[in-house]
Amino acid sequence: MSTPALRGVPAPLRADEVARAYAPFEQARMLPPAAYTSPEVLDWEQANIFSGWMCVATADKLPRVGSQLSVQTGAGGVLLVRDEDEQIRAYANYCRHRAHELIPCGGTAQRRSIVCPYHAWSFKLDGGLRNAPGFRDVAGFDKSEFGLVPIAVTDWHGWIFVDPSGDAGDFDDHVRDLESVVAPYRPEELRTVATHSYEIAANWKVIIENYQECYHCPSIHPELCRVSPPDSGENVDTDGEWIGGWMDLDDRAQTMSLDGRSGGVPIPGLDETRMRTVMYAVCFPNILISLHPDYVMTHTLRPLTPESTFVECSWAFPVAAAERAGFDGAYAVDFWDLTNRQDWTACESVQRGLASPFAIAGPLAPDEDGVYQFIRRMGRAYAGLGPDPEQRPSITTDTAEVPVADGHV
Ligand code: FES
Ligand SMILES: [Fe+2]
Repeated sequence: MSTPALRGVPAPLRADEVARAYAPFEQARMLPPAAYTSPEVLDWEQANIFSGWMCVATADKLPRVGSQLSVQTGAGGVLLVRDEDEQIRAYANYCRHRAHELIPCGGTAQRRSIVCPYHAWSFKLDGGLRNAPGFRDVAGFDKSEFGLVPIAVTDWHGWIFVDPSGDAGDFDDHVRDLESVVAPYRPEELRTVATHSYEIAANWKVIIENYQECYHCPSIHPELCRVSPPDSGENVDTDGEWIGGWMDLDDRAQTMSLDGRSGGVPIPGLDETRMRTVMYAVCFPNILISLHPDYVMTHTLRPLTPESTFVECSWAFPVAAAERAGFDGAYAVDFWDLTNRQDWTACESVQRGLASPFAIAGPLAPDEDGVYQFIRRMGRAYAGLGPDPEQRPSITTDTAEVPVADGHV
């Protein structure tokens, strides 16, 4: 959990090594190995990165009025609640009496009150204190002073983001032109059919870097290369807190699956370009969105330790496919589970290498420009620098013109 003293100060890394990561592309080096292994660096990241806008859940985990779910952020636990108006609200996950957690991290509840398990204080779904047992006759006790602490929250296409810091700015600026890339797929109308959880023995940044390049695909992903040429596509110029790129499908492939066939239906309304490509986007800091012609896959990351990360991978399909009797999305799930595991094996090996006392930051290949976009942002953040003057102009918002991919997991 974050320490306020760490907010707004440079990260505990050597400044000259960090500067190499945001040098011009051709001269850049990866982040220093300590960025992937140091507990102090993770503390800094929790305070400065995982305390601003981050994805914590999908909206379908709060299906009804009174649904409650607690999640972890760099600023401590957050309680998500669907209120009486069916809107999602977020509160700091502690009781205003003596700070017991309202729901243990990862836990859920379904009731029209939020009830603390310690002394049974209860709160309304709008956060107001409903009842404090034994306080009825206590002079001067004012219920209105003891409501839950609200946290900024938004439901973006079915993904719930919170900003515990309260100062991460407007969410629309966070996603800026990613909105025009994601909106045509209408993820909020898709149905999550499968979810896999992985605990990976690698720093969270190793996983994002791996997602951002397909330089490794010919070496470790033979199945992927059969349905999507690894040298196809390109990364896009982005505006907002995201990076991404597209890849072509092979001429004989309908989608990303082991035999290239789709076992579902196309997402309604996609244009010809989107039907022949897959778009891969990293929405900072922790959700990877993979947009296919017939399904949307997301990886949500949560750092556990400097050297381990929890990843939840979900597959969502159009309702017309999801409601078919016996539909399990296995054609997509099996393909990506295999590919995920190939990637996790590589990421864990990278982590062991970075932990070597002999590790030195390496160079970036021309095909690793997506990795560069990520480490440049991280390097500038570590150094406490402001907005990037080199940030390239926004991609077009004409969705038909959005280029189609180079990165993936
Ligand atoms: S700490 Fe919650 S009721 Fe006492
Ligand atoms: Fe990969």
